[in-house]
Amino acid sequence: MLRRRYRDMSLSTFTPDANVVIAGASGGIGAELVRACRTDERVRRVFALQRSATTNSGPRVENLTFDLLDEASVQAAAQQVADHGPVDLVIVATGFLHDERFAPEKSLQAIETDAMLHSYRINAVGPVLLAKHFLPLMRKNAKTCFAAISARVGSIGDNRLGGWASYRASKAALNMLLRTAAIEHKRRRPESIVVALHPGTVDTRLSAPFQGGVPEGKLFAPVFSAEKLIDVIDGLNSADTGNFYAWDGQRIEY
Ligand SMILES: NC(=O)c1ccc[n+]([C@@H]2O[C@H](COP(=O)([O-])OP(=O)(O)OC[C@H]3O[C@@H](n4cnc5c(N)ncnc54)[C@H](OP(=O)(O)O)[C@@H]3O)[C@@H](O)[C@H]2O)c1
Repeated sequence: MLRRRYRDMSLSTFTPDANVVIAGASGGIGAELVRACRTDERVRRVFALQRSATTNSGPRVENLTFDLLDEASVQAAAQQVADHGPVDLVIVATGFLHDERFAPEKSLQAIETDAMLHSYRINAVGPVLLAKHFLPLMRKNAKTCFAAISARVGSIGDNRLGGWASYRASKAALNMLLRTAAIEHKRRRPESIVVALHPGTVDTRLSAPFQGGVPEGKLFAPVFSAEKLIDVIDGLNSADTGNFYAWDGQRIEY
């Protein structure tokens, strides 16, 4: 597994005293994004949005609860963030692949409507509700970024193996929704960035049952992935909006 110790993170291309929102702060990658941002001197406040009351500690961290399945809770979280001023960066690190009810499909014969709709609600509808309520809060006349973690398997052009229909399709839908949001948001905020990101294969709850086939050295520690995603975000500019980027900065086809 690729690991790396914390270094001083720097969102060097954002306004100093940046307000950062991490949605899915209880997740493997989300928790590391919170930790990385709260130690960044250029960050004023990190709003850690999570489903449960689990707290991410730190002087600059504000814990808020929300549930992607409940739009009113997303709106309420946005209102609480808005009370602290404009937002510079939102990273959506929520996602669903499996739980005690649903597993990713190995074939079309395994497709179930409920499983498919659940993936779609968590992976596509939830993040775009966050975009609906948080994009209007973004700072004007400065670099801002709304980044949602998608997955390379959501790329239609890159799909050579099949399987995992619900997860793939929900991430493809997320990519389309982000591209659509990017185009609309750019009309109002020319300097804005809205992107989809692929974090690599990361050692978290989400990937735990499926790590057997991961080649040596290709399973990342969440801290490594989080640092890489922040590097990618810091390197983006407004010309990059609407695109899909991997953890190493490479552009992924849709
Ligand atoms: N791990 C990988 O190898 C990998 C690869 C490609 C893409 N990704 C993507 O990376 C992102 C982060 O995944 P991860 O690996 O860090 O997985 P994870 O540890 O399972 O985290 C998933 C997060 O999503 C949250 N979530 C799920 N349903 C929610 C809901 N209804 N409302 C609010 N939050 C909800 C979870 O909250 P709770 O803690 O409350 O359950 C948790 O914070 C996901 O979009 C995933 O698809 C991961």
